[in-house]
Amino acid sequence: MAFDIDMIKKVYSQMAERVDAARDVVGRPLTLSEKILYNHLWDGKATKAFTRGKDYVDFAPDRIACQDATAQMALLQFMQAGKPKVAVPTTVHCDHLIQAKEGAAKDLKHANSVSSEVFEFLASVSNKYGIGFWKPGAGIIHQVVLENYAFPGGMMIGTDSHTVNAGGLGMVAIGVGGADAVDVMAGMAWELKFPKLIGVRLTGKLSGWTAPKDVILKVAEILTAKGGTGAIVEYFGPGATAMSCTGKGTICNMGAEIGATTSTFGYDESMERYLRATDRADVADEANKVKEYLTADAEVYANPEQYFDQVIDINLSELGPLLNGPFTPDLSTTVGKEMTEKATANEWPLQVEWGLIGSCTNSSYEDLSRASSIAQQAIDKGLKMKAELGINPGSEQVRYTAERDGILGIFEQLDAKIFTNACGPCIGQWARYSDPKNAPKNSIVHSFNRNFAKRADGNPNTHAFVASPELTAAIAISGRLDFNPMTDKLINEEGQEVMFDEPTGWELPPKGFAVEDAGYVEPVVDGSKVEVSVSPTSERLQLLTPFKPLGNKIEGAKLLIKAFGKCTTDHISMAGPWLRFRGHLDNISNNMLIGAVNAFGMKTNFVKNQLTGEYGGVPDTARAYKAAGVHTVVVGDHNYGEGSSREHAAMEPRHLGVAAVIVKSFARIHETNLKKQGMLGLTFANETDYDLIQEDDTFNFVDLNEFAPDKQLTLEVVHTDGSKDVIKLNHTYNQAQIDWYNEGSALNLIKKENNA
Ligand code: F3S
Repeated sequence: MAFDIDMIKKVYSQMAERVDAARDVVGRPLTLSEKILYNHLWDGKATKAFTRGKDYVDFAPDRIACQDATAQMALLQFMQAGKPKVAVPTTVHCDHLIQAKEGAAKDLKHANSVSSEVFEFLASVSNKYGIGFWKPGAGIIHQVVLENYAFPGGMMIGTDSHTVNAGGLGMVAIGVGGADAVDVMAGMAWELKFPKLIGVRLTGKLSGWTAPKDVILKVAEILTAKGGTGAIVEYFGPGATAMSCTGKGTICNMGAEIGATTSTFGYDESMERYLRATDRADVADEANKVKEYLTADAEVYANPEQYFDQVIDINLSELGPLLNGPFTPDLSTTVGKEMTEKATANEWPLQVEWGLIGSCTNSSYEDLSRASSIAQQAIDKGLKMKAELGINPGSEQVRYTAERDGILGIFEQLDAKIFTNACGPCIGQWARYSDPKNAPKNSIVHSFNRNFAKRADGNPNTHAFVASPELTAAIAISGRLDFNPMTDKLINEEGQEVMFDEPTGWELPPKGFAVEDAGYVEPVVDGSKVEVSVSPTSERLQLLTPFKPLGNKIEGAKLLIKAFGKCTTDHISMAGPWLRFRGHLDNISNNMLIGAVNAFGMKTNFVKNQLTGEYGGVPDTARAYKAAGVHTVVVGDHNYGEGSSREHAAMEPRHLGVAAVIVKSFARIHETNLKKQGMLGLTFANETDYDLIQEDDTFNFVDLNEFAPDKQLTLEVVHTDGSKDVIKLNHTYNQAQIDWYNEGSALNLIKKENNA
């Protein structure tokens, strides 16, 4: 199942009818993004126009991709649904759990030993449920997806923010939380707020040292890290069609860094070339038949201001190479003098210690070949590396081809470390220091997407700057952050002044791609006999047991914590070292709400156990209530659960006996996640009732037996002096969601329906 041509044919066969119907109901020409969205409506042909930024719409994605860190809980949950197979084509990619240290061979061996139980679990679940499995070392999820699965006009979701990379091949591809992926795997619809649309018109042509990376670094500068929130960014214009498909992928990939829902490009010849080069001529042939539906209507790009919510113009001929950072991907500086001034003023170390090329953003054959053209010049001109260089190829196919074509050999001549085809330093999986917290201040340059503090090496003092692969190579060779390869000379081993020529490279390998073992494992046709084994003593994996329904009588529940102020999913379920336990609900629950500030005492992870009068951590206190058979309630402020779609933030409270989360307002995704886990997510009808809640309060739900859509619930709050407040609570449960509650979780309901 390299890819599913029948599924693609089906998407294309319904396109004309559905897109034409959408154009009729919308009453104007359509953008590409709208065509893809309207062609993927769960309910089929559009019968009404949706309001951007407002309407929640059910979609039917074509594919799902999961990476190894997020797949664990997603698949553990899917196993609960009682389905024999996933409902839509799905793949799992092992790329996040591989540390970069000594080089590919040793590092991969090490990962296969320390994370073997996780990899074996993912492999066996994939085999059982018809999921394509990409082994450790096969490559980075988004590069592998672009090479094998992405197709123009398709819609996919993935349990990773950079799923958006597939926009480079004309998809609407969106990063989601595990709970959303599980719904789609189980055959349910996927809900999304109909996005706003930002158009980016690219005129001119990239040349010299300017790369696709610089386009997105410029867009990040213009829109800032939040400017794309809730929007699809659609690129068009002559500058777009002149760019390679993998270059488009780079631009879409970093759309995540401006908060965009996703980014995309219309189908063009670069995509056709890429499809044919990656052994998908049949997809290109099918796409060619529906070409006009795989790009916007002509009027849209002629008068974009009329059809997009915002339009940005970038003339590629005037764009120069940029370095973005440190600590945020939207802080742009042009190479050379401006960097000298900024770095000096801000005390950014000018000496560069590492250059890193890779990540899902920039690890294509073209990226490696352009960077290697600079490395080759360093060899030819007698230059010595002033910084260290590390390379993570994007996939085994890219690595194998680049090795065959001598590209990796060029880097190796400069003593570069070739790391595994995996995320490595991009996700902190870089064993650079023995004690990163106390490591020295330094600068690095990389071709990745994110450069937050500690992201690459765990050292808060590492200043990471983001650049194109070719500029990363040049800066690493020069060892200077403010090196301008277009004007600056370097002194070679013989004391002569030399300069770099402009980088050159191949969009696609001239001799074609090749690979011996791509690292793909096809699932068996009938997985019913496949055993999924999880050791009961494992500390990283734990099979889930279905949650029991909370019932319609919740009385005597105790306040667990009244969270004060901001309470994001990170406060509820911290990341960092806890990521190790993502597949073990009981162990990861030891981080539940430890980042939230308790309104009583204003400390974190310090709450009262009303049963003993003693104070302790939130998880321990919750466990004590649970052991005593007492439900608990979490109270919170505005926008509770904002941040990520992490399902652990809902599963942990459910696991530790929290019956209800009552807040002034919710971040919508978290609210839905609570509903999916079969618990109560409620809001104060009167916000000031938050102030009534006291530390020793007990809660009685008075009319839960009448739980119904659009009907408030009543809560009796009993204070320690015996006085009571009776307050009203709002909710947004529809009947289906109340059914989830009644069954104990959405997955319990799916399982019940399966067995019916
Ligand atoms: Fe991996 Fe970094 Fe991309 S963690 S998926 S290479 S953003």
